Amino acid sequence: MPQKIVAANWKMNLNFQEANALISEVTNILKDEKRNNSEVIFAVPFVYIHYLSNFLKNSSFAIGAQNCSEYEKGAYTGEISAQMLASVGAKWVIVGHSERRLYYLETHRMIAEKIQRALQAGLKVIFCCGESLEIRNKNEHIVYVQNQLEGSLSELSAEQIRNLVIAYEPVWAIGTGRNATADQAQEMHALIRIYLKKKFGDEIAQNTSILYGGSVNAQNAQSLFACPDVDGGLVGGASLKAREFAEIVKTYN
Ligand code: PGA
Repeated sequence: MPQKIVAANWKMNLNFQEANALISEVTNILKDEKRNNSEVIFAVPFVYIHYLSNFLKNSSFAIGAQNCSEYEKGAYTGEISAQMLASVGAKWVIVGHSERRLYYLETHRMIAEKIQRALQAGLKVIFCCGESLEIRNKNEHIVYVQNQLEGSLSELSAEQIRNLVIAYEPVWAIGTGRNATADQAQEMHALIRIYLKKKFGDEIAQNTSILYGGSVNAQNAQSLFACPDVDGGLVGGASLKAREFAEIVKTYN
C-alpha cells in the first residue's frame, strides 16, 4: 500500500511570526488525530526550515523544502543545496513544481539532477508533473505528462524511486479554484501508475504514493482522496488556513 500523504506547500508566503502561528495552530488542532500509515508534511520557505523542524521534533509532522540546487556544492551564489536542507532538519523536498518550470525555466534534466542531489542527501522527494490548459485542450496531456516522467525519472534505480512520491498537478488547477474532477485526477494517476509499473515493476508501482495537487480544499478533498489511485494531496492556498488544512488532513484519515 502506498503511504497516504498530505503536504502543505506554503510557497513564498508568511513572515516568520505568521509561519509560527500557523504551524502551532495546525499541529494543535491535529494533535489528537490518530494517523495510520499517513504523513503530514509542511514544505516551508528555506529560512524557516531550521526553526520549524526543531519545533516539530518528536512530533509526527515533517518539514520539507520547496526546491533545492541541482549542484552538490560550490560557487553558485544564492543557491541552497540538498545537503544543507538535510542538515537543518528537512526530510522532504518538492522538485519540479510547475511554477519553477515556468518562471525559472527548469528543464527535465535539471529536475533529474535535483532529484539525484536530494536522494544522495537523504531527502525524500515530491516530484511534480502536470499539463497546462493549452496542452489539455489539445488533448495532449497524457503524452505530455509521460514525457515529464520519462525526462526526469528514467535514470532512477528501483531503490531510489522508493524515496520519491509523485504529485500530479494540472497547471490549470493550481491556484485557480478550479480543481480537476475526481475522474480527471483518477485517469492521470492510473496512467502514472502504469508508467511506474512498466519502468520499475509492479511492486514499486503499487507502493509509490501519487498525490493530487491543484485547488484542493476542505470541500473537494473527500471526492479526490476517494479515487483509488490518489494517495493524498499537495495543498497550496488552502494550507495557509489552519482550520481548512487540518480539515483536509482529517478528511483523509
Ligand atoms: P493550490 O496550489 O492548492 O493553491 O492550487 C497547489 C500547488 O501549487 O502545489
